[in-house]
Amino acid sequence: MKTYHIVTIPGDGIGPEILDSALQVLAKVQELSGQFRLEYEEREGGAACYQRHGVNLSKESMEACHKADGVLKAPVGLPSVRYPDGTEAGLLGGVLRNGLDLYANVRPIRLWPGVDAPLKAKPGEIDYVIVRENTEGLYLSRGLGVGNDEAFADMLLMTRKGVERVCRFAFELARKRSGSPSDGKRRVTCVDKSNVLRSFWFFRRIFQEMGEQYPDVEKDLLYSDAAGQDLVRRPWRYDVMVMENFLGDLLSDLGGGTVGGLGMCPSANIGVRASYFEPVHGSAPDIAGKGVANPLSQILAAAMMLEHLGEASAAKVIRDAVWEALVSEDLVIQASGQPKGGSQRATQAILRHLRK
Ligand code: IPM
Ligand code: MN
Repeated sequence: MKTYHIVTIPGDGIGPEILDSALQVLAKVQELSGQFRLEYEEREGGAACYQRHGVNLSKESMEACHKADGVLKAPVGLPSVRYPDGTEAGLLGGVLRNGLDLYANVRPIRLWPGVDAPLKAKPGEIDYVIVRENTEGLYLSRGLGVGNDEAFADMLLMTRKGVERVCRFAFELARKRSGSPSDGKRRVTCVDKSNVLRSFWFFRRIFQEMGEQYPDVEKDLLYSDAAGQDLVRRPWRYDVMVMENFLGDLLSDLGGGTVGGLGMCPSANIGVRASYFEPVHGSAPDIAGKGVANPLSQILAAAMMLEHLGEASAAKVIRDAVWEALVSEDLVIQASGQPKGGSQRATQAILRHLRK
């Protein structure tokens, strides 16, 4: 039997609660499958860790993440825990993504059944993936901005290596998918602001160069402001979208808003060797400990992890259970984004629908 070594990071706020839901689902899926075993190593990370130890992730934990077959991370960060420069001390984005060189941030935007979403669309009609460049762009400047009381600057950096690898990732992903919901065409859309900024022109040119190696995939170019509009007006047109780090951060939240909120949004951070899987949203300290958080983002992140480990059928078992629980209304996501009856009831509903 295959054994995978998984590092878990319960994080802050609602993190531990929703991670617990995901671990319950993973335990049942393993049992049903009988093909693999997950062995866990829990690691502290985030704002509470920073308060206790003065670092948001220890060197040993970083090393453990590097060595693991996968990392399942819950949301981290608390607004009250800050560095002297005012930025949040608990956030691990820069630490893990740059530290482990996880260049592709994969953010599926999917409309699930029964979700009270603001757009007029049927379940499955919105189903695209944002591939956000994850190691450079504007966020390479995290904590490095310079300025004084009168002015401040952060720098946006693009490298050929960085753009090439993320574009290649997007094209390869399109090959594995079945095209856009509206016309079934495999399509990669490059989102940029190349009409204004030279760095984005560089990004677009490399996208087009890379695209030549993928004649079977349609290439599509879209300015980022227009993307903000189009992802609301006709999201069904999109399949895979690739973009710079900051744009991907913004547009993935926008996409989440169209499908019932970030509580529905898992993500994967993928590198050459290491990877980690997490909800797109933060730690929601205002509702922590109340048992009302939506565990779906964390459960679907666990499914993405299984898929990445090569356990695609186990990942599908989870997604099918979520789908069935929602269709049967055993699981109801309210307009607030929270599941009716609370997190545990939602988790139980999914557990009941898990089928081999
Ligand atoms: C995200 C988050 C992080 C980011 C923050 C919390 C560091 O917003 O994962 O989208 O900026 O990438
Ligand atoms: Mn974000």
